[in-house]
Amino acid sequence: MSLNKFPIGIFDSGVGGTSIWKEIITHLPSESTIYLSDSKNAPYGEKSEQEIIDLSIKNTQFLLSKNCKIIVIACNTATTNAIKLLRKNYDIPFIGIEPAIKPAALKTKTNTIGILATKGTLNSELFEKTSSTINKEITIIEKVGKGLVELIESGNLNSEKMTKLLSSFIKPMIDKKVDCLVLGCTHYPYLIPQIRELVGNKIQIIDSGEAVARQTKTILETNQLLNKSDTAGVHQFYINKNKKVLEILISGDKNNLKISEEDF
Ligand code: DGL
Repeated sequence: MSLNKFPIGIFDSGVGGTSIWKEIITHLPSESTIYLSDSKNAPYGEKSEQEIIDLSIKNTQFLLSKNCKIIVIACNTATTNAIKLLRKNYDIPFIGIEPAIKPAALKTKTNTIGILATKGTLNSELFEKTSSTINKEITIIEKVGKGLVELIESGNLNSEKMTKLLSSFIKPMIDKKVDCLVLGCTHYPYLIPQIRELVGNKIQIIDSGEAVARQTKTILETNQLLNKSDTAGVHQFYINKNKKVLEILISGDKNNLKISEEDF
């Protein structure tokens, strides 16, 4: 089989990266994908840099063993802590995801943007580097979304606890006149309906999902790895805990997909 037909590998600490997977299959319908959900080890955001690096290496090796032609790190925490090392160690293209603070900085009128992300992302060197390039007149209000990933992973997306937590993170941003809210974790797009309830229409909610899918397409093209067939791709998911939540999040998207729950 030619390399072009090999799958795109995607990994996240859990089910959140399926928000990126959905963008990828929309923009690249002929591509097959292999998605690794390391739910057993979620949340990555509370782990040390070294632990995040070790798990990212493990995930990469798993996807390489399945013959993936490119790897999309559908996790801000793993990207901001490990992408540099992964790119150095493996001879395969990696696409990462970082919080979209640059586009938010271009859009804001109140010169105040909010970002909700994990502790691991906000404390990373890469995030600090990106923030330092933002116009100094712009204030960035950072909030660690502690507890949000755990609630999503356990299927408690629409719980009272979720509403309370979200409100405790977002209300202070509204008070500080934030007009753009960056979702810096791939789990958070699943919370957009609840966030919208809290912020109304005055605040733009920004995430990087579509940009990642477009970048994946560009990199496949430049490396001559694009699958040009006109049949739809097939999608395999590997998850090491609680596949029910994954089934709910991706249900209705495609029928050419398979989920295996196994220990890895
Ligand atoms: N979905 C992840 C991210 O984009 C990781 C969340 C976590 O495991 O803490 O950061």
